[in-house]
Order: sequence, then C-alpha cells, then structure tokens
Amino acid sequence: MPVENIISLYENPLLRDMGGGLVRPGGLELTQRAVAISALKAGVRLLDMGCGTGAALRYLVEHHGFRAVGIDPSIVLLTEGRAKNPELPLARACATRLPFADRSFDAVLAECSLSVINDVGQALGECFRVLKSDGVLLAHDVYARNPSGAAGLRELSFKSCLSGAVSKEEWVERLEGSGFSVIFWEDHSRALKEFAARLIFEHGRLDTFWGCSTAAQGLAEGAQVQSALLSAKPGYFLAAARKSGAAVAARSGK
Ligand SMILES: C[S@@+](CC[C@H](N)C(=O)[O-])C[C@H]1O[C@@H](n2cnc3c(N)ncnc32)[C@H](O)[C@@H]1O
Repeated sequence: MPVENIISLYENPLLRDMGGGLVRPGGLELTQRAVAISALKAGVRLLDMGCGTGAALRYLVEHHGFRAVGIDPSIVLLTEGRAKNPELPLARACATRLPFADRSFDAVLAECSLSVINDVGQALGECFRVLKSDGVLLAHDVYARNPSGAAGLRELSFKSCLSGAVSKEEWVERLEGSGFSVIFWEDHSRALKEFAARLIFEHGRLDTFWGCSTAAQGLAEGAQVQSALLSAKPGYFLAAARKSGAAVAARSGK
C-alpha cells in the first residue's frame, strides 16, 4: 500500500486534535516512561521516527535536553509542526530510507509508527544502521495479545496501526532478526483502551481511527473490524531493544 494512503489517516483533523498533537495511545506519559527505562541523559542524539507534528520531539528537547530530530513522510503534519514549533528540526523522510549517516544516533524512538510502515524489516534495518554501536531503539506500539487472531487484523481492507499489529513473539523476532537484543517489554494495553474510549466520547465513533470513510463502508467494515478485534485482542506495549554487539561484529565482518 502506498505511504500516502497510510499517512492520510493521521492527517485527519479529528485525530490530530486529540491529545495535544499526539495521535496515539499513552500521551507524553508513555514518552516519559520510554526515557526513564532507557536512562538516556541530556545531550544524547535521538531520532523520533514518524514524529507527526513533533509534539513528543518538543517535549524531549525542552524537558530532557536531548539533541533530537524528527522525520515523517506527511507534508500536512510537518507543515503544522513547523508552524507551531519553527525551531524544531523536522524533516520529510520515510523510515525505510533514513537521510542520516551510519552510527549517528544514541537512540531511535518509534511511537506507534512501526506498525504503520509497510516494510518494517527495512525500517528496523535503517534503525540499526543509524544507531551507534551501543544505541537503543525505544518503541511503543500495538500488538495482538491473541497471536492466532493477528491474521484477521492484517486482512482488514484499510491500513492503520491495528492492521500492523502482530503478536509479542513476532515483534521480538522482528527486532532480534534485525540485530537487536530486546532488553525491556512492558504491557500498556490500558493506554490503548483509554485512547479508544476517548475517541468514542469525543467523536461518538471509532471508525475515524481505523480509516472507514463513508457511513455505508463504515457499517460493513465496522462488523469486520469488530470481529477482528474480538479475535486478536489488541494490546499496547513499550519495548527497548539494544543494538547487539554480536550483530554489529557480524555485520562489520569482525
Ligand atoms: C500513529 S501516528 C504517531 C505519530 C507520533 N509518533 C505521535 O506520537 O503522535 C504514526 C505516524 O507514522 C508516520 N508514518 C507513516 N508511514 C511512515 C513511514 N514509512 N516512515 C516514517 N513515518 C511514517 C505517520 O505519518 C504518522 O505521523
């Protein structure tokens, strides 16, 4: 699926108006938690991959003193972000082709962005490449708490982070297959439930979040989504993965 079709979901003003510019569960509390578990100190160089309008990036620069940059493929989100925070370094780029030199970051942060990327393996390879040898990837995202139901989410006719949800085992496999050692995993499914509840209370509907556009489509797809959700039991996780020494040596031929 073309990147444009995926990002238009996050450009929807209904979603953008929620949570101070963050279009995903957990708010800045989850960003704060990611920083806390990584023990990153002021001055580190961090890439926010799929930064949207840059709300978390701004928080990391202002409250933690990180030297942070953000990338996102959405012109709409970047334009809004630049208007709000002209001083923030926001660049238009795709996670599958990061415009940065090898080993240039201490940390990569992916807040609900890995699940919307078509080629996650390529994106993780890029994270590995741009991280320093002891760098850390911090990710929070959707996962299927019932692994056997994950296939139903992928079969949905539209793309959102829900359709990119795979089981914990598959996330760990993807990360470790890309050269990372998973050093931390924490369940934050409550944040996903709260996010869904807020969408319903504020907009009376959830279909905006999962991309159904018309009422007729909404009815048919709503039933399909409901059945897929019941089967997959989507949850939300926070994980930290370190660039593994063995993988670095293997890839550099040592
Ligand atoms: C659920 S939103 C999360 C945005 C932001 N990280 C936040 O915390 O609010 C997913 C983001 O991933 C971006 N995205 C989609 N495809 C991408 C890609 N191929 N590379 C990088 N970012 C992508 C979207 O434009 C969107 O901003």
